[in-house]
Amino acid sequence: MRTDDLIFYEIYPKSFCDSDGDGFGDLEGVRSKIGYLKDLGVNAVWITPCFESPNVDNGYDVANYRKISEAMGGDEVFEKLLKEFHEHGIKVILDLVANHTSDQHEWFLQSKSGKDNPYREYYIWRQTPPNGWKSAFGGGSAWEFDERTQEYYLHSYAVEQPDLNWENETVRKEICAVVDFWLDKGVDGFRCDVLDQISKVFEDENGNGNGPRLHEYIRELFGREKTKTCFTVGECWAANGENVRLFCGKDRGELTTVFAFDHLCLEKEKFNLKKPCLREVCEKMANWQRITQEIGVKNTLFLENHDQPRSVSRFGNDNEYRYESATMLGGLTLLQRGIPFLFQGQEIGLTNSYHTDISAFNDVESLNYYQERTEISKAERLARINAMGRDNARRLIPWTDGEQRSWLAPYSRKNEINVEKDRAEEKSVFAFYKRLIAVRKAERAISQGEFAVLDLDDAHYAFERRCEDERIVVYCGFEKGAQLDKKFEGEILLNNYADFSEKELLPYQLIVIRAKQ
Ligand code: NOJ
Repeated sequence: MRTDDLIFYEIYPKSFCDSDGDGFGDLEGVRSKIGYLKDLGVNAVWITPCFESPNVDNGYDVANYRKISEAMGGDEVFEKLLKEFHEHGIKVILDLVANHTSDQHEWFLQSKSGKDNPYREYYIWRQTPPNGWKSAFGGGSAWEFDERTQEYYLHSYAVEQPDLNWENETVRKEICAVVDFWLDKGVDGFRCDVLDQISKVFEDENGNGNGPRLHEYIRELFGREKTKTCFTVGECWAANGENVRLFCGKDRGELTTVFAFDHLCLEKEKFNLKKPCLREVCEKMANWQRITQEIGVKNTLFLENHDQPRSVSRFGNDNEYRYESATMLGGLTLLQRGIPFLFQGQEIGLTNSYHTDISAFNDVESLNYYQERTEISKAERLARINAMGRDNARRLIPWTDGEQRSWLAPYSRKNEINVEKDRAEEKSVFAFYKRLIAVRKAERAISQGEFAVLDLDDAHYAFERRCEDERIVVYCGFEKGAQLDKKFEGEILLNNYADFSEKELLPYQLIVIRAKQ
């Protein structure tokens, strides 16, 4: 699939729009917002899992890969939604969660019913844990003892998310069939959850992923005639400059692109209060662009998703400079080389949500952290969860400042920041994102051009995009603003301030210039 023009928007349906007032977002809600997405200008959506699921991990515990959950609206509503997205020229990719299923999936119910059951080998069972792997969500060992059959099964995530056994060829065939099922329904591709974990090295304490058969498995899945043209993006925490060619090199029959996380994994410990250094974030993003440009593939551009805190709180200033930093970060996402992925709410500059009681949180990872890390004071644990927890991305989108019934405590700044209010404001983040998207669509130098860093220091980041005789230069100021040694030359395409001074960037100022060659 051609990727030059794609601009993705990630929808986490449970938290996007609730059409029937039950407090849960649903697919009718998504459908009602197609016009909104069209107006924003995106042309592709990634919908996170909306299949049947007990929702221990909000749908990332799939109980039936071929059925849309009734709570989300069921199969019919999905088909209607898909058709309407397509009618509006918006592509749709689904989430393929293939490293694990729910413990309520029929395969697992069979598998744990007895050692001789034909589904036993669909999962990873051992008499004793072969290693000390821990669950990624906290809560201790990744090996859970099953009383009935007196063996342990592997769950890299929650206890209720048993890992599939990819060494079993039948499992691989089952997942291929799932992929084909959705392609036959007309979806345009897949975002593949923790894809690099499907091949493991059990003898290695750090071996839960990036194993020796990984690329063979990915090729089996996506190197087929049927899958050749669909869009695929793998969530690959292990992707790096050395192996990215294997994941998405043109001749590989694997993936269109990957989500790599160098720029978001800045601290050893996930829950921390340290403000990241924007220079470092930009260095890492630029590095990925250089690497992928060299091998002629596109990387992904993103600062948010449903597992990350809000970018304006994390990298910007969500009070004094909320508008400026949200729009500058929009520039980083939409003007560099690669395929942009916006996350719902980013386009109105939603910030993190602030809560003083653990009852306001739902995410299994945050709850485990709160329960386990008792050596840290309660107040500090809450502060860390407020800063880094995944619920920040999962609170229902505040479409208005009105009362909102919600499965998760509502966004704490709803009265001050909501879609309706943002769009009515003179300094509207939404309006600026629209302009960013319009510039990306109009300028080939942005959508297809080469990328090069011009300057990167503690105060700002400047890069250029070039295509034939077109050259666009983007300046991004950090918190303190920056003095430049050259003045801006050329036509100003975008500026998130009303004005500019010749050789200076104000705090979080974004200036986009059509430069002279
Ligand atoms: C990555 C997903 O993005 C996250 O939300 C989920 O909890 C884990 N994989 C497990 O599926």
